Amino acid sequence: MSSPEQSSPSAVIGVLTISDRASAGEYADRGGPAILEYLNDVMATPFETVHRITPDDLSTIKEVLLEMAEIDQCCLIITTGGTGPSPRDVTPEATEAVCEKMMPGFGELMRQVSLKKVPTAILSRQVAGIRGKTLIVNLPGQPKAIRECLDAVFPAIPYCIELMEGPYLETNPEFITAFRPAKK
Ligand code: MTE
Repeated sequence: MSSPEQSSPSAVIGVLTISDRASAGEYADRGGPAILEYLNDVMATPFETVHRITPDDLSTIKEVLLEMAEIDQCCLIITTGGTGPSPRDVTPEATEAVCEKMMPGFGELMRQVSLKKVPTAILSRQVAGIRGKTLIVNLPGQPKAIRECLDAVFPAIPYCIELMEGPYLETNPEFITAFRPAKK
């Protein structure tokens, strides 16, 4: 398992915007840049990012998630958009299709905190799961949902990635204090 003392592999974090209109250039992607800004605020250990935009198409989303997990070797992929009830919203289905293990606590907590902000929070079917050594976390497409959701789950992400034998991640305590249980 990684620790701050050991030389840790460098962290690659994927950001995936899923939107028919943003991918067609009909409007600017605001979700992806909001996630990148969040990561720059919160991460205290070095990381690189890979940012992609795809339409709301199941096979394309699956393909891009697999590329980011296996070729880019992202330890974490954060997606934005496509989690709702409309016919083209298939991000949770694509995520489940590529994951070996689902992490239901992430979606449960994000909906719970979002519900304090907006009654339509229950319309997001956002999930999280693990593919190999990659944690995939879905966020809704609303840019303001990004900080609301990530503030809730990010404290558990560094330890989750540590348990997955990924790189050692540390957060900036001005924004987020990563929680790691005391060693037994
Ligand atoms: N969660 C938060 N925190 N803030 C929001 O504004 N919007 C909701 C919900 N979750 C929202 C939210 C709405 S209106 C919808 S339709 C669903 O997320 C799905 O959004 P998506 O299809 O853009 O992913």
